[in-house]
Amino acid sequence: MNKTFAAVGTLVLAAFVFAAPPVAPPNPPLGLLKVAWPADNPYSVEKVALGKLLYFEKRLSADDTVSCATCHDPKYAFTDGAPVSTGIRGQKGGRSAPTVLNRAWSLNQFWDGRASTLEAQAVGPIANPIEMGSTHTAVVAKIGAIEGYKPLFKASFGDDKVDIDRIAKAIATFERTVVSGNSPYDQWKAGKATAMSPSAIRGLGVFKKAECDACHEGGNFTSNMYSNIGVGINAPNPDLGRFVISKDPVDWGAFKTPTLRDIEHTAPYMHDGSVKTLEDVVEYYDKGGTPNKNLDRKVKPRNLTKTEKVDLVAFMKALSGTGWRGITEPTSFPQ
Ligand code: HEC
Ligand code: HEC
Repeated sequence: MNKTFAAVGTLVLAAFVFAAPPVAPPNPPLGLLKVAWPADNPYSVEKVALGKLLYFEKRLSADDTVSCATCHDPKYAFTDGAPVSTGIRGQKGGRSAPTVLNRAWSLNQFWDGRASTLEAQAVGPIANPIEMGSTHTAVVAKIGAIEGYKPLFKASFGDDKVDIDRIAKAIATFERTVVSGNSPYDQWKAGKATAMSPSAIRGLGVFKKAECDACHEGGNFTSNMYSNIGVGINAPNPDLGRFVISKDPVDWGAFKTPTLRDIEHTAPYMHDGSVKTLEDVVEYYDKGGTPNKNLDRKVKPRNLTKTEKVDLVAFMKALSGTGWRGITEPTSFPQ
């Protein structure tokens, strides 16, 4: 064989081997749709790894004490187990930390939907004075000065420049892999009749009868819409939720319908963390919520029996899934 030909052949082969095609994103667990990866922030293994480090990175806060995981901790199914969160220097916020689970399918972020993407959301807490208390300029300088991060930014973005956009993109990419599916409910729905207990199966009937599924609908058990169910509305200065953002009277006292995936593990409940247990949630709905001028008409007294209430809770507990359970805090960080 012609020598030049063979050499070219080897080069072509080498280029083929080294320029391996991008790894396809993992398939989400049973019961979840494919993630719609944004065109300007596609999936990559490298970006997930970098985003995970940044998610657990306390140096994103002004005094190196608070990370995203402080308030969205895998130990509490990516919440913090408290009615309201505690940020930098022990400061408490006014709202409960929602779970980061399955945010990949959320159309907008925050209880009032004020951020439209996970990328836009991720930059908020860093500069929030009561959460991480830093500034974007300071964080970019701090992370940019850590040698160990440089190769990770290069592997994720092509060069080692650190900026707030890239930090946000990496964190959002990691978040899109924090998923919960393949629950007893998903397995039951897929045909495994014994996956849910008889009580949970009856509970699904109650869930429909009480119109819970009108708002907690679809594979992620949320319409991604805003409703007023009356939580906290009688407080002296009630949080008016979505209304503050939209100024539309239909949104007065309305909050984003939360996912019910892994709901068993994210107590306490509601935007103000005012409801302690799932049993209490059921009692709250059964009495018809808190009457007010904008209460959703699907929230009304239901007069459920004792068994129906037990079954409804059993059904919600059948929404605890897998996908996120292997995620733990990294044991070391770039230096
Ligand atoms: C001090 C606690 C605290 C820290 C630190 C924190 N969060 Fe949050 N997070 C919250 C609270 C409270 C909310 C709800 C605020 C609201 O709706 O107004 C929230 C909302 C969110 C949401 C929206 C979820 C939804 O369903 O709407 C996401 C996603 C999120 N945080 C991710 C992050 C990321 C990423 C970081 C790190 C860059 C972070 N959080 C840091 C407390 C915290
Ligand atoms: C009109 C729409 C609507 C209906 C009907 C509805 N929900 Fe909700 N649900 C919401 C909204 C909105 C919230 C958050 C309210 C807040 O925090 O102020 C919520 C919160 C919850 C929570 C707490 C979630 C969390 O993460 O804190 C649970 C559990 C829940 N609902 C279960 C149910 C059950 C069970 C039913 C039926 C009995 C039901 N919901 C009916 C809209 C609805």
